[in-house]
Amino acid sequence: MHRDMKACIFDLDGVIVRTDHCHFVAWKKIADQLNILFTEKSNQSLRGVSRQNSLEMILSMGNMTLGAEEKEECLAKKNSYYLAQIDTLNTSDILPGALDLLRDLKTHGIKLGIASSSKNAHHILHKIGLFDQFDEVVSGNDIANAKPNEEIFVKMAEKINVPPSCCMVFEDAVSGIEAAQNAGMMAIGVGKSDHLVGCNIQVPDLCELNFEILAEYLDTYQYD
Ligand code: BG6
Ligand code: MG
Repeated sequence: MHRDMKACIFDLDGVIVRTDHCHFVAWKKIADQLNILFTEKSNQSLRGVSRQNSLEMILSMGNMTLGAEEKEECLAKKNSYYLAQIDTLNTSDILPGALDLLRDLKTHGIKLGIASSSKNAHHILHKIGLFDQFDEVVSGNDIANAKPNEEIFVKMAEKINVPPSCCMVFEDAVSGIEAAQNAGMMAIGVGKSDHLVGCNIQVPDLCELNFEILAEYLDTYQYD
């Protein structure tokens, strides 16, 4: 069956912009305050995980429990540390290949969306000067269920009015790949990680991709 590619939906952190280290520095401060060992490697497992679930994962790394109020305090503190970290974010933090790919897709009339679990997505897009490049943004503020739930992608498809089978998703985290597939969309895994096992196609970064290559991928993709 021939399938037209009509929309490309991008995760933000780790696909369009480099924010991993900023999240790490912020979580590390929280973990240190709680006396929990937290390394860059542990931070990798938080990729694509919501702020709340990330805190739960860090607490379980330290076999620790906290009351609801203490958790809220930690989450607020983490975000203030994170906001300080991303204050200097600028166009140089846009990941390789992203700008050229967005331009090429736009030229071919493809709708562009951001589907990010981050509640800071709008702020980050403004900082890196890309807010106006996207037709729609669905962020952590707009959803009740975090990835791997499909809600974020289903909402995006509704907003841009494109059927899921004509959407292609770009994700650097397993939870995002699962969410895209749960929504009936083809998922491109972005990054060198060997943990992106479930994705339909994996690329090291967005370089070398263009409209023709992606349209061909989608056209030959076999849906279950
Ligand atoms: C995801 C990141 O995009 O957003 C996660 O990969 C982060 O690391 C999540 O926890 C939530 O982000 P924020 O900015 O709302 O704390
Ligand atoms: Mg990501």
